[in-house]
Amino acid sequence: MRLIIVGFGNVGQSFAKLILSRSADLYSTYGVNPRIVACIDKKGAVVCPSGIDLQKLLDIKKIKGTVVEYRSEGCKSLEDDVVEQTDSDVLLELTPTNLQNGEPGISNIISAMRSGKHVITTNKGPLALAFPSLMELANYNNVMLRFSGTVGGGTPILEFAKRCLKGDRILSFKGILNGTTNYVLTRMEQGLSFESALRDAQEKGIAEATPELDIDGYDAAAKVSIIANWVMGMKKTICDVERIGIAEVTLERIEEAQKRNNSIKLIGMTENRKLIVRPMEVSKFDPICVNGTLNAVTFSSEHSGQQTIIGRGAGGMETASAVLRDLIEIKNSVYEM
Ligand code: HSE
Repeated sequence: MRLIIVGFGNVGQSFAKLILSRSADLYSTYGVNPRIVACIDKKGAVVCPSGIDLQKLLDIKKIKGTVVEYRSEGCKSLEDDVVEQTDSDVLLELTPTNLQNGEPGISNIISAMRSGKHVITTNKGPLALAFPSLMELANYNNVMLRFSGTVGGGTPILEFAKRCLKGDRILSFKGILNGTTNYVLTRMEQGLSFESALRDAQEKGIAEATPELDIDGYDAAAKVSIIANWVMGMKKTICDVERIGIAEVTLERIEEAQKRNNSIKLIGMTENRKLIVRPMEVSKFDPICVNGTLNAVTFSSEHSGQQTIIGRGAGGMETASAVLRDLIEIKNSVYEM
């Protein structure tokens, strides 16, 4: 499979490392033989139809800070229209999330789908802002759009609801969808101040580049809208989510909750088909009451009742594993084994 990678940051580089370490068993187990034919970062692109040497690309990126410096026979640096002009099967859209206008993710995804490429993205912006129209465009162009890594990092929250609960009707969901705020609230419960807890989370590399996106609940709201569209068939955007972040959660409020054997958590949920993100008191015995950077979501379905999925919700390698999962799914669906 010929792939274009757009965005060669933490997730993109982790994906390259994952492919390098798994190439033999990816082919023998899944029949997947990924060949990266183009890689684009902020400074430009390298295009190499015979396939880019990934170890060399990782080394160049580390030393020079950009993929543009990659040199090899048959490869060229390009400026414009790389996604549209390069022959490939799948676009991996791994640019950082922009929740204001979804760019450059939206344009990359549209260019790829219009030129007949399947798309895998870890970018929450395009989906949080334009889920229904992007799905429509994917259907119109007869390509797949997959985005497992946008919710739960490597934890297959979307697949769990969509595939494992297939046939049942999801009535609602409720959970912790943001690792940074969960980490901050957990550390505050242990007596740390908000500021130092946030600094810790940033050092762990899980916070968004602009931490307000986590703290003010935007990241969780984006994920709530993605789940609502994909799993419950709603046609909503992040703008439809009622959102309150954790900035006003005090140590006193946390201590009071603890006396009742509860914790304060930033919860994303549906309630009577309304989409909500807000800090809530959750019983310590509730399975979604997980600590640290974990995510946890309980789905309530019509016939099978409540099921909870828990796992790590962020991280380069974790999210790269979700990209690989999506790639295998595309391979299985399109190039039917
Ligand atoms: N900032 C996000 C989080 C990263 O803390 O959960 C994963 O989407």
